[in-house]
Amino acid sequence: MSTFTIDTSTSRATPSPVPGKRMTAPSIRARKANGATEQPIVMLTAYTMRTAQLLDPHCDMLLVGDSLGQVIYGLQSTIPVTMEMMCAHGAAVVRGSWHALVAVDMPFGSYEGSPEQAFASASRLMKETGCAAVKLEGGEAMAPTVDFLTHRGIPVIGHVGLTPQAVNMLGGYGARGREKREAEKIIADAQAIDRAGAFCIVLEGVLEDIANDVAKAVEAPVIGIGASAQCDGQVLVTEDMLGLFERTPRFVKRYDDLASRIGEAARTYADEVRARTFPTADQTYRPKG
Ligand code: KIV
Repeated sequence: MSTFTIDTSTSRATPSPVPGKRMTAPSIRARKANGATEQPIVMLTAYTMRTAQLLDPHCDMLLVGDSLGQVIYGLQSTIPVTMEMMCAHGAAVVRGSWHALVAVDMPFGSYEGSPEQAFASASRLMKETGCAAVKLEGGEAMAPTVDFLTHRGIPVIGHVGLTPQAVNMLGGYGARGREKREAEKIIADAQAIDRAGAFCIVLEGVLEDIANDVAKAVEAPVIGIGASAQCDGQVLVTEDMLGLFERTPRFVKRYDDLASRIGEAARTYADEVRARTFPTADQTYRPKG
């Protein structure tokens, strides 16, 4: 039975759900017990209210990823993403969801300076969006920050492996951990974030063996993206899995081909406007009675 009332009838309907009982950081953390996760954790990215509404019933967590810089704003990387962007999109996703835990990415430059800077940014994200957790990138170097935040009431998702905010250090977005030293570093990073209190850890773009080792080495659930089926859950960028972009990265499965379908719908609309076959009487206001 539904625990919420939400009007999704038109684009002008009142979209905010009556608050329901959401997934929580402790409930997500508890999904992994004694090193095993019975039911894998389902996470997708969401940046807008309507997308959140559509994804929410199917997901344990919605991530307002800083990937919105590229997906929504056409930026070259996630580096220029601002707190203002994350606040605006985070609030929209919280308004459009009632069941999933909403986590918001901390943008580059908003947390690396010090634990205090991270607390100021994370608390602003929580106050302005209503999100229940934040995600930040980095391993051992960020462990004191994760510890600082979690001891001050801020649930944190870690993010190790391929960390896109470090693209200028990494030199690209290829899979990480092909060399032994880097593989060991990724495992050490995950362990440090785990010990510091992250309630789950996103592991991005690593070889399957590393995913396996990380999943075994940490107590928190590991949410993979391009990190094989060895993880305790999976996350994808929604626009990738819906087929909104032409190139499909190896780790993405396309569940639809929305780019073609949107293009086709727009072409039909344009043809009909030019042929004056839209609007018809069905779409025209007439006097009543
Ligand atoms: O920004 C993002 O969307 C992410 C996911 C790819 C995990 O961090």
